[in-house]
Amino acid sequence: MLGPKMLEALSRHVDQEIYSAQLYLAMGAYCEAKAFKGFGRWLRAQHLEELEHARKMLDHVVARGGQPALGAVAAPPREFGTIAQVFEAVLAHERRVSESVHALHAAASAERDVATQVFLQWFVDEQVQEEEAAAEIVDKLHMVGDRPGAALYLDKEYGKRGRSG
Ligand SMILES: [Fe+2]
Ligand SMILES: [Fe+2]
Repeated sequence: MLGPKMLEALSRHVDQEIYSAQLYLAMGAYCEAKAFKGFGRWLRAQHLEELEHARKMLDHVVARGGQPALGAVAAPPREFGTIAQVFEAVLAHERRVSESVHALHAAASAERDVATQVFLQWFVDEQVQEEEAAAEIVDKLHMVGDRPGAALYLDKEYGKRGRSG
């Protein structure tokens, strides 16, 4: 059975995953509106992944006999600047999510909630991949600078993700 502190902490993290989903949906639409359809597709795929993360965490809460209390989710920004700034914001956001996952892990450890610690391992690993993927795009966009041809090439490459899922 999940303790009340873990229930609250995991519920807040579900909110954060849903905010991530909202943020990436908004960023995807922003990219698409700026004719970066490929990055838009990449972000839509990311949006769906974040919803999956929220559900995965919710499933753990329910499996442990907890009744999650979902909170309000803030509206994401509407303006994200240049395409490089969009992905800088993705990377910064993923780093914040990683910190939140690490804090959950520490809380589970303090509560001697071994099942939650083991469960969170998946999220710890996932965040390593999330940060790596975002950092790679940021690095590539910085290399490209203001050469539109190269930016459009990257847009096409990253757009392949949306098609394969
Ligand atoms: Fe996530
Ligand atoms: Fe993420």
